[in-house]
Amino acid sequence: MKNLRNKVALITGASRGIGAEVAVHLANAGAKVIINYSGSYEAAGEVVQHIKANGGDAITMQADVGSSKDVKKLFEDAISYYGKIDVLINNAGVMINTLIKDTTDEDFTKQMDVNVKGVFNTLREAATKLSENGSIINFSTSVNRIMLPTYGPYVASKAAVEQLTRVFAKEVGSRGINVNSISPGPTNTELFTKGKPEAVINRLASLSAFNRIGEPEDIARIVVFLASDEAKWISAQNIGVNGAMA
Ligand SMILES: NC(=O)c1ccc[n+]([C@@H]2O[C@H](COP(=O)([O-])OP(=O)(O)OC[C@H]3O[C@@H](n4cnc5c(N)ncnc54)[C@H](OP(=O)(O)O)[C@@H]3O)[C@@H](O)[C@H]2O)c1
Repeated sequence: MKNLRNKVALITGASRGIGAEVAVHLANAGAKVIINYSGSYEAAGEVVQHIKANGGDAITMQADVGSSKDVKKLFEDAISYYGKIDVLINNAGVMINTLIKDTTDEDFTKQMDVNVKGVFNTLREAATKLSENGSIINFSTSVNRIMLPTYGPYVASKAAVEQLTRVFAKEVGSRGINVNSISPGPTNTELFTKGKPEAVINRLASLSAFNRIGEPEDIARIVVFLASDEAKWISAQNIGVNGAMA
C-alpha cells in the first residue's frame, strides 16, 4: 500500500541494519527517502540502488549525527533536494557493551554523542524544519526494561532518548507533528550479533514468546505504520517491538 506517497523521509544510519530495512519499507510505501550514513559510503549507495531498482526514489547524504554542524547541513541539503522533510527516523545508534567499572571515557562519550546528542541535534532542526503534520520516530531499546550487565551507558543513552521523545511531542504537537520512540528487542544486525557467542544469542532469543530474535523487517513494518497518517493520534509513546521479550 502506497500510503506514504508524496512524503519525504529522512532516516539516520540507513546504510546498514535496521535503518536500511526501514528505508526500503518506507520507499515501498511510496516515500522519497534520504539515506543518511556516517562512514559506510558503499553500503549506503547499495541501499539507494536497491530502492531505485524497485521503482523508488532515494539519495545518500553523509553526516555524523553527533555533530550539530553536520546535522544542520543535512537538513538544509535534504530540503534543498526534495523540497521538504515529512518523516524523521532517528535510527542511528551505537552500542558498546562493558561493565560500568571497565567503561572508558571514550566509550561513554561515543554512546552519548551518537545516541543522545544525535537525536537532540535532529530534533532541534526538526522543530522548525520538519513539515507541518510530520512524524518522528526515535529508537530506544527493550533492554531498558530488563537489567542486563554491560549495558549501563547504552541504556542510559536510550532512556534519555525516551525522555526527549515525550517532551518534544508536547513542544511540536501544535504543528501537527507526532513524536514516538520504539524499543526493539534483540534484532539480527551487526550491532547485536557482533562478537556474541551463539549460546548468548539463543538465550536472548528464548526471552521472546516466539523463541527467536527479531529481523530488521519486524521493526521496519512498525516504523512504516508510525510514519503514516493512520498513527497520528499516537504521540509521546514508547512502543516495545520485541516479540513479548519485555
Ligand atoms: N539490533 C538490535 O538488537 C537493536 C535492539 C534495540 C535497539 N536497537 C537500535 O536500533 C538502531 C539501529 O541499530 P542496528 O542494529 O541497525 O545497528 P547497526 O547495524 O550497527 O547500524 C547502525 C547504523 O547507524 C549508523 N551510524 C552509526 N553512527 C553514526 C553517526 N555518528 N552518524 C550517522 N549514522 C551513524 C551506521 O552507519 P555507518 O556504518 O555509515 O556509520 C549504520 O547505518 C540503533 O539506534 C540501535 O541502538 C538495535
